[in-house]
Amino acid sequence: MRIILGVAGGIAAYKAALVLRLLTEAGHDVRVIPTVASLEFVGRATWEALSGQPAPSDVFEDVPQVLHVELGKTADLVVVAPATADLLSRAATGRADDLLTATLLTARCPVLLAPAMHTEMWEHPATQANVATLRSRGVHVLEPASGRLTGADTGRGRLPEPADIVAAALALVGGAAGPRDLVGQHVVISAGGTREPLDPVRYLGNRSSGRQGFALAQAALARGARVTLVAANVTLPAPARADLVTVETAAELRDAVRAAALDADVVVMAAAVADFRPATAAETKIKKRPDGSALVLELVQTPDILAELAVERLRAGQLVIGFAAETGDGDASVLEHGRAKARRKGADLLVVNAVGAGRGFGTADNSVTILDARGDVVASAAGSKAAVAQAIWDAVAALR
Ligand code: CTP
Repeated sequence: MRIILGVAGGIAAYKAALVLRLLTEAGHDVRVIPTVASLEFVGRATWEALSGQPAPSDVFEDVPQVLHVELGKTADLVVVAPATADLLSRAATGRADDLLTATLLTARCPVLLAPAMHTEMWEHPATQANVATLRSRGVHVLEPASGRLTGADTGRGRLPEPADIVAAALALVGGAAGPRDLVGQHVVISAGGTREPLDPVRYLGNRSSGRQGFALAQAALARGARVTLVAANVTLPAPARADLVTVETAAELRDAVRAAALDADVVVMAAAVADFRPATAAETKIKKRPDGSALVLELVQTPDILAELAVERLRAGQLVIGFAAETGDGDASVLEHGRAKARRKGADLLVVNAVGAGRGFGTADNSVTILDARGDVVASAAGSKAAVAQAIWDAVAALR
């Protein structure tokens, strides 16, 4: 899972290092966004070393990436620990005066704030009103713990224990610390959409963003797997701990998946693979016809990688999981097409999703039905692509 850990400027900032450790050890990909004030307590080098990623504070860092939009939009979970009175106030009023608050505005995933401050500040009506506002918007604000505060004073306002923060945060996205049922397993996942060259500047492609495949990779890492991610034309940042292989065409994807599948326990074909490619790719740019006549392309079928893998089982006992993106038509519904495909492909599971008209491709959410090789429904799931990924791994675990 892709998690943002925000750190605001309080003495408890040092405990966020433990929160970060627990999250990365559980296999999550964590980006830390410290506020400038928090750097008085814990320096940026600590966050960058522990997360293995840059830890920017300012919206003007890495401007071409438009980080404040990118980090929020691609996150599966945002945790702010400690959340100071000032951070709660800025979040409640929708300020966007640093990278962390801007990210809170762009995030569409669950957000958990773990407050830490002096008792007086926590109990002040202004802070309580900010907490109530945030909660009314669906933000999860933990109750602070009681105990020793910065100096010799004690009372309510202590940061909850890192393990409790992590448990509460992960519970927001599908259950406690999550299962670790893929430890020792090698999982190969293809993601994205292939591009078949037409000439040096054009290609035949599809609308797959790679989000669901990347979410599957993140979920598999969180469940303890070693992951090889074969990505076709995906612009999203890949999970840091996956072995990434980038490809462009169906032929390259086939080679990469088959090579990795030789020692894989599970292969998931989440990529949208071109069924057809131009019979030949022109060596020079195809020009318009002076007479305005039509250009007729000859397309040849590509090998069905999923069907091959299902028949060959490149490693004994290997599970092969396919996807079916269906639009439904006059002859049959999405599910009927899925059932027929499940029987035809021979995969152990087929994940069927409806696409088109704003559904499936490129969107943050997904809704799927999981079929077994006979075409019987074994599960269905809807929600964020991270949640759907967990449901798919649950269905894989049930096969063993
Ligand atoms: N797939 C594949 N190789 C191809 C085409 C598709 O491995 N050349 C895989 C996809 O990765 C996906 C599954 O097959 O897991 C279903 O893809 P889809 O395009 O929905 O099915 P098709 O095989 O193209 O069937 P149809 O054309 O009848 O819809």
